[in-house]
Amino acid sequence: MKPEAEPNRLRRKSNPEPFNMVLNTVEEPNNTKQTFFQLLGGEEKGIETIRNLVETFYDIMDSDPKAAGIRAMHKQDLTEAREKLFMFLTGWTGGPQLYIERYGHPMLRARHLPFPIGESERDQWMYCIIKAMHQLAFDETMMTKLATQLYGVADFMRNR
Ligand code: HEM
Repeated sequence: MKPEAEPNRLRRKSNPEPFNMVLNTVEEPNNTKQTFFQLLGGEEKGIETIRNLVETFYDIMDSDPKAAGIRAMHKQDLTEAREKLFMFLTGWTGGPQLYIERYGHPMLRARHLPFPIGESERDQWMYCIIKAMHQLAFDETMMTKLATQLYGVADFMRNR
């Protein structure tokens, strides 16, 4: 098993991406901090929920005309994109750092530079993820918190 200190070491390193690219914590009303991953159900339920979210997200991107613009940027076969987003979001929400363990620092902005991303593309991405959360009947508060944090990441991807 990987030592707990690993993600902290990665977070302390200076890098050009905001803190919340790697881990999100949520301040609860009783002042305890829980990660999204814990709030989504932790090891088993959380993993399953994130997997369902990613599958639904890409199914929507693949079929909804409103997302045709960003769908066209992706490869025909979405298998790898599905797997990578699942791995990334698992770590980003505070679960196991599956993406980092396999691919190293996400450098998401750099990895998105080949794709022209403006407000429209950002909004199409957000449309798919919000629609997916609705389809999966996410709790309203959780949906709002996740959407707010993900909007920050999506907006950070803009390169035009
Ligand atoms: C803002 C609009 C966005 C657009 C248009 C976009 C588009 C893309 C495209 C075209 C790819 C390549 C997929 C392929 O190989 O077929 C990609 C990869 C990826 N995207 Fe996005 N993306 C956006 C936002 C985001 C956000 C907000 C996240 C995370 C929360 C994210 C996470 C990823 C990850 C983890 C990969 C895989 C990177 C790799 O290792 O190659 N993307 N994205």
